[in-house]
Amino acid sequence: MDRAHLPSDVHQRVLQSYQRLTVALFIAHAVCGDMDERRDRTSGRSWRRRGGGMSETAAQLPPVAVVGTGYVGTVVAGAVAAIGGHAIGLEVDAEKLSALRAGRAPFREPGLDELLVAGLASRRLAFTRDPDEAMARAEVVFLCVGTPSCPDGRPDVSAVASAARAIASCADRRHILVTKSTVPIGSARWLSGLLEELGCDLPIVSNPEFLREGSAVNDFLHPDRIVLGSDDPAAIERVVNVYRPILEQRFSGGDPRRQPPLIRTGLLTAETVKYAANAFLATKISFINEIANICELVGADVIDVATAIGLDTRIGPSFLEPGIGWGGSCFGKDLAALVATAEECGYQAPLLRATVAVNTRQRSLVVEKLQRHLQVLRGRRITVLGLTFKPGTDDTRDSPAIDLVHRLVDLGAAVTVYDPLIKRLDDVSTVTFARDPYEAAERSDAVVLATDWPEFVALDLPILAARMRGDVLIDGRNVFDPAAVHMAGLRYDCVGRSSARGWDKTSV
Ligand code: UDX
Repeated sequence: MDRAHLPSDVHQRVLQSYQRLTVALFIAHAVCGDMDERRDRTSGRSWRRRGGGMSETAAQLPPVAVVGTGYVGTVVAGAVAAIGGHAIGLEVDAEKLSALRAGRAPFREPGLDELLVAGLASRRLAFTRDPDEAMARAEVVFLCVGTPSCPDGRPDVSAVASAARAIASCADRRHILVTKSTVPIGSARWLSGLLEELGCDLPIVSNPEFLREGSAVNDFLHPDRIVLGSDDPAAIERVVNVYRPILEQRFSGGDPRRQPPLIRTGLLTAETVKYAANAFLATKISFINEIANICELVGADVIDVATAIGLDTRIGPSFLEPGIGWGGSCFGKDLAALVATAEECGYQAPLLRATVAVNTRQRSLVVEKLQRHLQVLRGRRITVLGLTFKPGTDDTRDSPAIDLVHRLVDLGAAVTVYDPLIKRLDDVSTVTFARDPYEAAERSDAVVLATDWPEFVALDLPILAARMRGDVLIDGRNVFDPAAVHMAGLRYDCVGRSSARGWDKTSV
């Protein structure tokens, strides 16, 4: 209820009745406390169901510190404050710190800035570069620093080690450490040993994060499950308390009908869950891309195939969209890490290797299609629409679209690109950036849709065709209606739908 627009007297009355209600509930709780006691289905511990507001919840939630404010860390800090807890983010980078203190996340993520602004205004959220301050104001410490890949595919855990050193010096018996960074399997035990060397004995809980870029806030507040792994069951229970409002979906915007299950397990298992989840999602995409390639050879339509198999509840419809391959900061990195771990244990992990191999191959699909349409690409004018690894984010890490741009430039093509958010590429100087998709298609021999931004789906195809010199449209994400493309006088090529091409059934 937006009070700003209520005449003052009505506002007063509403406020009074609200306060009366809260007080009444508070008194009710004080008096009848146990009456409303419920058995917590996850720990069997009793849990009081409250009608009361945030203030009560805040008092019960253990205060949280978040070390590292990248995608995961910033979302965790903002969301903990949003569900009624207190969170302090530890960030050493001065520029990022001042942006965060102003309620601006150092990257684009829908709804996150609003969360930060609200958290800062409520004083339940703060950011500091001082580990002492962060640790003094917290009990549960989430480790959310980055673990980028080393050249050999193993994750670089140096940021994890330096974060551990920073907090070890000011940790005490109140604290428990929660690893939320994607760390190699066995890292929590390594971390425990490192802390011990530093004279610091902290219980450690592994809590893998499954949020996706572009829907991170929603994914954190409405997860499909919460996984907590530790060799110390009591430590798990303390982290459960942080998540209680999410487990009960008892926060504004929560959906009590969709309460996420809680998985309690051991450290190693929780660490493995993260890798297995990403490896499976990537494998599912590589699978449908493989099927798409077969569909092209046999003249079938992969979209219908995906729909038909996705209706099988054992398979499920999600992550069955074929295209030019998966990308992003996680899949490739996590698969490389998992394969490296398997190798350390003397296992070749053939399926995981195949998932990566199929994806690498898929990225060359567009070049092969362009060569089939245009033969030699040197001197050809090619338009690439979309540069981010997926729509809804400004992240270009391991982007299949940028990989394509590099390949086309290497083949001597004149490449013009357009992306709603990306206006320059540091490592490709010869590429032309257009102000809109139509300008990007100006006198082009072929247009490639690489990232399925909604504005591309809504393109006026006859206008696009009129701006081009050639007539080839390669749909790397199967977003266009083939008939509409044909109507616009363009030759349509896509992924896994040779029938949609309507002009050729040769091999892929
Ligand atoms: C992923 C996981 O989904 C998330 O759970 C984990 O925490 C982090 O890694 P994210 O990297 O944000 O999240 O991207 P996601 O939405 O999973 O997409 C990954 C890539 O797969 C993108 O390039 C996307 O275009 C591609 N993709 C996705 C497909 O090609 N087909 C699909 O059906 C789905």
